[in-house]
Amino acid sequence: MRSERPFRLGILGSGTGSNFVAIAEACAAGRLPAEVALVLSDVEQAGILDRARERHLPALYLAPGKFRTKLDEEAEHAYLGALQEARVDLVVLAGFMRILKGAFLKAFENRVVNIHPSLLPAFPGMASWQQALDHGVKVTGCTVHFVDQGVDSGPIIGQRTVPVLESDTPETLHRRIHQAEHELYPQCLAAIARGQVRVEGRLVRLSPGWQP
Ligand code: GRF
Repeated sequence: MRSERPFRLGILGSGTGSNFVAIAEACAAGRLPAEVALVLSDVEQAGILDRARERHLPALYLAPGKFRTKLDEEAEHAYLGALQEARVDLVVLAGFMRILKGAFLKAFENRVVNIHPSLLPAFPGMASWQQALDHGVKVTGCTVHFVDQGVDSGPIIGQRTVPVLESDTPETLHRRIHQAEHELYPQCLAAIARGQVRVEGRLVRLSPGWQP
């Protein structure tokens, strides 16, 4: 009998790829019932591509085109084509520094997820750990959410809290949030891969008993 086809992840990142590593390790350890089908980056020298190639996973640099904060039309086509060709079930943003627009999100409706280093809806946008320090909040954290047309505004799948300490610098707080991300992201992806996560309008419904 043919076994069921594994759930396939397409990972997009622009940076060091520590979340990608956490995800790949969770797949390898069987904690995340999925496989990494493809890693794409808009930065030719990005660490995430090296981390993927070290693991013998398909990894490609795809030029982002003429804009600074989004993909141009041609690039969007190239990204979509590569992900579809790799038969990706879920697009996972792991430090991808460009906003994805209409056509892309339509092609992967409710199938693009992101991790953000704050407890959304607090502190969307850049350097959320610095925003947390500037506001003097005592608790911050990270959020995994589906991506919609807005910035860091889509339906929330899971969150993890992180204390803010008196002694924190932007670097120490960012590091602590990063560690929480490495636990939260694979857990949320596992729930999606197991079919325990459903989007209903603005909200995410989770299977009973599953709480990241
Ligand atoms: C993470 O802090 C994530 O929250 C943000 O980008 C960063 C990616 O880090 N979206 P890494 O490349 O996974 O180390």
